[in-house]
Amino acid sequence: MDWPRGLDGLSYGGDYNPEQWPEEVWDDDVLLMREAGVNIVSLGVFSWARLEPREGEYDFGWLETVLDKLHAGGIRVCLATPTASPPPWFTLAHPDALNVRPDGVRQVHGSRDTYDVTAPAYREASLRIAAALAERYAEHPALAMWHVHNEYGSMSHSPHAERAFRIWLEAKYETLDALNAAWWGSFWSQHYGDWDQILAPRATQYLANPAHELDFKRFTSDAMLDHYKEQRDLLREANPEVPVTTNFVFGQWVPVDQWKWAGELDLIAFDSYPSAPDERAEQQSAFHADLSRSWAGGGDWLLMEQAAASVHSKDGAIAKSPGRMARHSMIHISRGSKGAMFFQWRAGRGGAEQWHSALVPHAGKNTRMFREVVELGNALPGIAHTTAEPVEADVAILWSPESWWATSGAHLPAPVDYLENAAQIHRVLRERGVVADFASPEGDLSKYSTVIAPTTYVLSRAAAENLRWFTAGGGRLVASYLTGAVDEHCQVWLDGYLGGLTDLFGIRVTEHLPQPAGERRALWNFGAAERFCELVELRGAQCVTQYATGDLVEGQPAVTVNPFGEGEAWYVSCKLGDDAWDRLFEELELTGPGGPGLDVVDRGEWRFIVNHTEQEAQVGHVIVPAGSWAVDKQPR
Ligand code: GLA
Repeated sequence: MDWPRGLDGLSYGGDYNPEQWPEEVWDDDVLLMREAGVNIVSLGVFSWARLEPREGEYDFGWLETVLDKLHAGGIRVCLATPTASPPPWFTLAHPDALNVRPDGVRQVHGSRDTYDVTAPAYREASLRIAAALAERYAEHPALAMWHVHNEYGSMSHSPHAERAFRIWLEAKYETLDALNAAWWGSFWSQHYGDWDQILAPRATQYLANPAHELDFKRFTSDAMLDHYKEQRDLLREANPEVPVTTNFVFGQWVPVDQWKWAGELDLIAFDSYPSAPDERAEQQSAFHADLSRSWAGGGDWLLMEQAAASVHSKDGAIAKSPGRMARHSMIHISRGSKGAMFFQWRAGRGGAEQWHSALVPHAGKNTRMFREVVELGNALPGIAHTTAEPVEADVAILWSPESWWATSGAHLPAPVDYLENAAQIHRVLRERGVVADFASPEGDLSKYSTVIAPTTYVLSRAAAENLRWFTAGGGRLVASYLTGAVDEHCQVWLDGYLGGLTDLFGIRVTEHLPQPAGERRALWNFGAAERFCELVELRGAQCVTQYATGDLVEGQPAVTVNPFGEGEAWYVSCKLGDDAWDRLFEELELTGPGGPGLDVVDRGEWRFIVNHTEQEAQVGHVIVPAGSWAVDKQPR
């Protein structure tokens, strides 16, 4: 499918909210967009209250005018269904369609994302507004793509959600006996005698059941996907030529299993908001980009949103220095995004995001920011042809949303930061110049020579077999601590953990040994273990390095390798620091043309270089000024 429809080059633009501005501004917007090289905007993302001011009564006048103006200006439109923010009349009429927090508090209108995808009234109203938009605009010449909803993520613990959860559970387990067995129901008297006894995992007196919680997140992901699919089907029917997407966002509060969703989107779209003020913002951007490309099966995807002028760290917004916005955009484009889009086109005067940066700042076009926007927008058409070939990676990192969800439970032997562990592998590889893909634990691994499983805590039987098959066939598998600690029902794998793959790794893990925060156990030649290590018994594997210090572990294997079939399986039994991972990757000869502060991505005959350092960089014959980027022919 041609996407966004009618747009040949790279997409450049962002969320456009004309409904927040008087009509006089709209013509100016189109003129400025043209000046900036903007060729596509996401329109109407939160405009439900303005499109349907009263139930069943529509006001499409303003949208019509804007669509026509954009079309006349040659700007394509990614038209949103506005269901991420139901209007006040809806929520007042249907309070049962508002989401309920685990502590039972029902949220109220006043912000956004107050909806419950399992509430029949919300489902109906969502379809109604989507149908009304499809009926009017499916054939509009400016329409390039449908943008369903926005950043699916709101969980609800409402009675509607509970009812739907029970239906989902019954389809999955068929019998209560099977559910009770899967959830280890005899513990703490949690044996269910009737489906109706099962609740959403609401606030409890003490620890919740991890299997119950994991299934609820799986269910929520599926329920939100159903809401998406209903709209997608309707929009597709209205015009099969127009691709349909929704924008993924990233966070632990987002129960979306991207692997399951990916096949349902015509184009993977991602909103990248790095949260670190320093160079980790670049690392996070590359991490987001490689994840998005991998969800897209290695093909094209689109950076749907990023912030123009600032990085949103925990301590507030940090201004992006000159050139940083372009470099972040190029991180994404070089790693497969078919463009760079932003939240938002024009900075708002009011509302909760009035201080969020934009392509057009409050101070208008005569600003440093807008000049940078124009510069990038005018550079992109010149490099569109260099993005035709895919990014090829030889190394994959397993990405397991379920391991992320399951390790967030408070019942683990010690806190585990799954996201950081996955990001750490990616970060160290990136610093070594290696561009990695991500892969699903149950996905096709055959094109990779090395697969790294960072703390892949939940390992289903199917995933375990997949890893066995990959290694036996000649692959190199590297797994880190707690991989395969539990199965798909959060039940511990007995007799050595490791997903039952003790023969593959040639070891048994016999004990988990958490240690106080800040205490380190040294490894010979390999830095130190932080916070967590395991007692490993060799069963055929060789010891690569051992613990040099620490009760119980001193002299015991810390990193091991085992030949298996045509391949080999490495195991890292502790949380290592970046230096130690670097040392291990050195041993595995994983290197590439980039390096610290330097993103280098090869695609076909083209090489993309993004220099984040304060010095000029030379890569092959190409010299890239400090804080700048270049695309050139690869050296032969
Ligand atoms: C998200 C949303 C946008 C906006 C930005 C702010 O990505 O999709 O509507 O709120 O965050 O960073």
